Amino acid sequence: MIRKIVFLLFALYCFDGVLSNSLIAPCKIDDQACIDKSVGEASTKIIQGIPELGIEPSDPLFIEKIEGNLSILKYKFFNSTIIGYKDCHISDLKVSKELTSVHYVLNCPQLKMSGLYEIDGRLIILPVEGKGDFDLITGKYKIEVDSDLKLTPGSDGKSRLAIKNYKLKCTPLTAIHFDFRNLFNGQKDLSDAVHKFANGNWDEVAKLVQDPVFNAAIGKIIKNTNKMLKATSPDEFVLN
Ligand SMILES: *[C@@H]1O[C@H](CO)[C@@H](O)[C@H](O)[C@H]1NC(C)=O
Ligand SMILES: *[C@@H]1O[C@H](CO)[C@@H](O)[C@H](O)[C@H]1NC(C)=O
Repeated sequence: MIRKIVFLLFALYCFDGVLSNSLIAPCKIDDQACIDKSVGEASTKIIQGIPELGIEPSDPLFIEKIEGNLSILKYKFFNSTIIGYKDCHISDLKVSKELTSVHYVLNCPQLKMSGLYEIDGRLIILPVEGKGDFDLITGKYKIEVDSDLKLTPGSDGKSRLAIKNYKLKCTPLTAIHFDFRNLFNGQKDLSDAVHKFANGNWDEVAKLVQDPVFNAAIGKIIKNTNKMLKATSPDEFVLN
């Protein structure tokens, strides 16, 4: 019993000390090089996952359901897995001095997504419908993120920072490969026409369908970021 308590105390001590001190390296708010490095390291930890804080790894990123309700096209993706967020690099990071907003760009070399789909509607000029397995392989993607931040008091009396919302602007920079199996119940000529159109017009097609997917994916990563922010106070990582 005593050994158990000693172990527990030791574990708690380690958890408290090691984790909260090293979650986000401290920086002065006007030291951009330090902030770039600190946020880069923190985001690597978030993507890798921090089991002690209930943060699951984001690469691969699993998303149970994504729903795209576009005016001319309805789609659902089930049990999707996205690979590649660990290779995205952050640039143009700007945190406002008052900690009220943050802007950054995620530069992703490649994202691979697979899962189950249901689709029905028009893909710009072509009718499209079907359900089955899908694979999507993107090229380079630029994801601009703008968020408001909020400071709230934590249970220990110290303040906590949280990301309140996010606005995304996603731009595909190089070709995307679409592979949707069993379109039109397996009618090959119709399916081939849709694939030829989608792969040939990847830029236009991506801009039509991408937002619900990125909102779900980035939303999940931001939720994990908030779990990390809850575990440490800006009193610890913002130096005067
Ligand atoms: C999409 O539309 C369906 C049917 O109109 C609705 O049930 C669903 O809640 C909508 N989903 C989203 C994410 O807006
Ligand atoms: C998604 O996966 C879960 C768990 O394996 C399964 O129960 C569910 O039926 C799957 N969804 C679809 C649409 O297949």
